[in-house]
Amino acid sequence: MKISVVGAGNVGATCADVLAYREIANEIVLVDIKEGLAEGKSLDIWQKAPIDLYDSRTIGVTNDYAKTAGSSVVVITSGLPRKPGMSRDDLIGTNAGIVKSVTENVIRHSPDATIIVVSNPLDVMTYQAHITSRFPRTRVMGMAGILDTARYRAFLAEALNVSPKDIQAMLLGGHGDTMVPLPRYTTVAGIPVTELIDKDKLNAILERTKVGGGELVKLMGTSAWYAPGSAAAQMVEAIVRDQRRVVPVCVKLEGEYGIKDCYLGVPVVLGRNGIEKIIELDLNSEERALLEASRKAVREVMEVLEKQGQ
Ligand code: NAI
Ligand code: 2OP
Repeated sequence: MKISVVGAGNVGATCADVLAYREIANEIVLVDIKEGLAEGKSLDIWQKAPIDLYDSRTIGVTNDYAKTAGSSVVVITSGLPRKPGMSRDDLIGTNAGIVKSVTENVIRHSPDATIIVVSNPLDVMTYQAHITSRFPRTRVMGMAGILDTARYRAFLAEALNVSPKDIQAMLLGGHGDTMVPLPRYTTVAGIPVTELIDKDKLNAILERTKVGGGELVKLMGTSAWYAPGSAAAQMVEAIVRDQRRVVPVCVKLEGEYGIKDCYLGVPVVLGRNGIEKIIELDLNSEERALLEASRKAVREVMEVLEKQGQ
């Protein structure tokens, strides 16, 4: 079983490390455009194997996609962060160009792979991978919801002083400030969260979750990688071990939730065939309005991409 991770930066290398450490695949290929980076990080992860006791083999390459041939799953993390003076539209164009060329290389060597996109802006880069690969929507998806719900669950665990293991939550929408965490679908060991926390505290946590990525950028001057890398690895694991995990994933909607032709985060069953099923929740009017606002925000960015004709 081979898994490839494109982009050996913070998120890609963390994802490869988790995949190796947890022995999710026996061969993990890390690819980067920067000479020596993927080779060095793979070697470092491999040299950790005798200490942490795993035998997954990590291999690093510079732009040599032949080494990724036959991958079951490919995680795409390559992309630039926004730089001073760069408009949002410039960033979309630059990262879409990267995701496009990476996807072309990936599918040439792994035509049956499932693609998990991590690069930002997430929903639209997933759309780009879908346009380029022409893979069915079941095999092109984006990682965001697992990370965003993890932040929400971590904040709740802290506020309630309980184990994060016991917090279950669901979230919908795009990966950005318009995401829709769902308190109605949040429990602590089966107990509705609303019975355990007052409304103001919960609202503050919901708001903090929506800007959770930005909070870390402010602290570190760059975006997060431990939780994002682990979240992507969890998606890989669900697929290669056919776990049928129920998790929020960015997927192309074709009528579900009354939405068409838009990549958005929704709960899915994740297994051997990728998106095995999209779960449609019975939303109330307030939740529906929030999801619609998120759809509009993502759709606007999709249109920027469409105008640029990537
Ligand atoms: P990073 O800058 O540490 O790593 C990106 C890597 O991509 C670099 O090593 C770079 O050399 C490589 N790269 C650039 N062009 C390439 C190409 N054509 N082929 C192969 N490799 C190429 O960035 P980091 O922190 O790892 O983030 C990666 C992406 O993930 C960013 O777009 C970031 O915004 C996004 N992200 C998304 C999250 C999500 O929830 N979906 C969470 C965190 C980050
Ligand atoms: C994050 O949520 C910025 O997408 C990045 O950490």
